[in-house]
Amino acid sequence: MKILMVCLGNICRSPLAEGILKSKVSSEYVQVDSAGTAGYHEGELPDKRSIAVAKKYGIDITDQRSRKFLVKDFENFDVIYAMDESNYDNIVALSRNKEEANKVKMILQELDSSQKLNVPDPYYGGELGFENVYQMLNEACEVIVSKINK
Ligand code: 4NP
Repeated sequence: MKILMVCLGNICRSPLAEGILKSKVSSEYVQVDSAGTAGYHEGELPDKRSIAVAKKYGIDITDQRSRKFLVKDFENFDVIYAMDESNYDNIVALSRNKEEANKVKMILQELDSSQKLNVPDPYYGGELGFENVYQMLNEACEVIVSKINK
C-alpha cells in the first residue's frame, strides 16, 4: 500500500504526517511519501520547527526534502491525504477521472468523518502550532494504521 501526505509547501505539515505514519508501519508493506501543492520550497529540508517537534517524539525527518505534487502521483499512490480543504481542492482539480479523485481524502476525516476539519497551517505561528499539528496528525495516523491492520 502506498500513501501520500500533501500540504501546501511540503515543509511543515505533510513531512510530519509522513514521519509519524512511517514510524507506525512496516516499510515493507506500507510506503509513505509527502509532497506540496506548491513548489516554493522544492529541495528544502522540513521547517526547523517540524524537525524539532518530530525529534521530541523520537522521529527523525531530516532525510526528507520538499517536492511538488505531480499528476503522476495519482498513479503511484493508493491514498492521497490532504492536510486542509485548500490542498484537497487543488489536488482534486488535477485528477483526470473519478478513480483518481476518489483517492484524495482529508486526513482529519479519519478522526471525524462528519466534518471537514483542517490541519491548521502552522507556518506563520509559533512552536505551539507545531505541537498541536503533531498531536492531531499522530491521532489521525493511529486510525490509519488500525484500518490498514484490519
Ligand atoms: P506547509 O506550510 O504547507 O504545512 O508546508 C507552509 C509552508 C510554507 C508556506 C506556506 C505553508 N509558504 O507560504 O511558503
